[in-house]
Amino acid sequence: MDRIVIEGGHRLKGEVTVSGAKNAALPLLAASILTAGRSTLRGVPALADVRTMCRLLALQGAAIEREGEHTLHVSTSAMRGFEAPYELVKTMRASVLVLGPLVARYGHARVSLPGGCAIGDRPIDQHLKGLEAMGAHIALRHGFVEARCRRLHGATIVCDLPTVTGTENLMMAAVLARGTTRIENAAREPEVSDLAAFLGRMGARLAGAGTPLITVEGVAELHACEHRIIPDRIEAGTLMVAAALTRGDVHLRNCRPEHLDAVIDKLREAGVAIDPAADGVRVHHRGELRAVDLTTQPFPGFPTDMQAQFMVLAARARGPSVVTETIFENRFMHVPELGRMGADIVVDGRVAVIRGGGRLMGTKVMATDLRASASLVLAGLCAEGRTDILRVYHLDRGYEHLDRKLRSLGARVRRARGGP
Ligand code: EPU
Repeated sequence: MDRIVIEGGHRLKGEVTVSGAKNAALPLLAASILTAGRSTLRGVPALADVRTMCRLLALQGAAIEREGEHTLHVSTSAMRGFEAPYELVKTMRASVLVLGPLVARYGHARVSLPGGCAIGDRPIDQHLKGLEAMGAHIALRHGFVEARCRRLHGATIVCDLPTVTGTENLMMAAVLARGTTRIENAAREPEVSDLAAFLGRMGARLAGAGTPLITVEGVAELHACEHRIIPDRIEAGTLMVAAALTRGDVHLRNCRPEHLDAVIDKLREAGVAIDPAADGVRVHHRGELRAVDLTTQPFPGFPTDMQAQFMVLAARARGPSVVTETIFENRFMHVPELGRMGADIVVDGRVAVIRGGGRLMGTKVMATDLRASASLVLAGLCAEGRTDILRVYHLDRGYEHLDRKLRSLGARVRRARGGP
């Protein structure tokens, strides 16, 4: 298995292009089930999770053609399977995104229950509650969710909490339902809006994406279309923190700062300069970082997917920072590994107190999930000496060529064989 080896202490400088968003690409691929035509997606990141979603669609009969590295043509005219098997769902929870489109188009879906994962329990009760309200019969059998119906009908669904993939599943189900669906307390993430834009191009009639109320007027059928995926705001945020930690000067292209307001605010609070630049932003920093407190929230609040990365920033900043995680109950798995590199972090439940200002020292560390891995890479970039990050398959699920991109900016990062 690969590991990543970093020699810390090198300033990042130069220009880098952010890839398409993983968490937009996955629902868009699932949405291609909703039509019989051949849809084209551009800006699809080359990631393990995208390959898993393609395998899942292929298993159901979709034909997927690749053009270059970032364009996929998806034809779903010969769909024959309606199942997401355990083997795929267990490697990627987002497989559950096929549930809504399969029921909407075929009236039948069988999706393995995802179970818990490294960052928390992550139930899907809101997805199921919404589908039931639209007339689907839901049964849980032998570890699978089975959903059946003739044709879904519109309904008013009040989500108990804003859920990103839950909102996406319900939107995809509602576009082919009979009548009007109102999704209240909907997630407002940019990836939800990107899915709405894609569905709109397919002929769906929906309004309100990006607000807590999404209204969908069901139509009888949708047509194939072409769409470019939004840039990955979490990759952009991670690269911003990398620039800040190394006292760097980096121009991020294909970056939408309006998707990162909360992250940019916190970086500015820490003393980092972020200026508009062609097709994105310039991030530069000199001198000391200031401590920042933050609480993760649904969009437009501070994203949970940037919490681990900011902990590294807090560990290097002057003074104590308090980080509160409100989205996932177990998302501090990176703390013991950062501790092994010298970070002084105390966790009590959902709150972590970071006593900043200390040095980080390179050592062997183990990644536990995607964003935890990113935080270890960031720590390696500003640590003294050599850091070996094991289990990089987590990183490859969600960051396209991160090692290559960092190298192009002057970091000493390489991939090596070996390690558990
Ligand atoms: N929740 C429920 N019931 C549900 C659904 C969610 O209680 O039916 C809870 C969750 O347990 C969690 C909260 O609601 O406490 C929010 O979870 P959400 O459903 O929004 O998360 P998700 O849709 O499973 C997506 C991203 C995650 C990201 C979260 C939060 C995708 C494919 N995944 O997950 O991305 O952390 O939203 O923003 O879009 C990542 O990329 O590393 C990642 C984990």
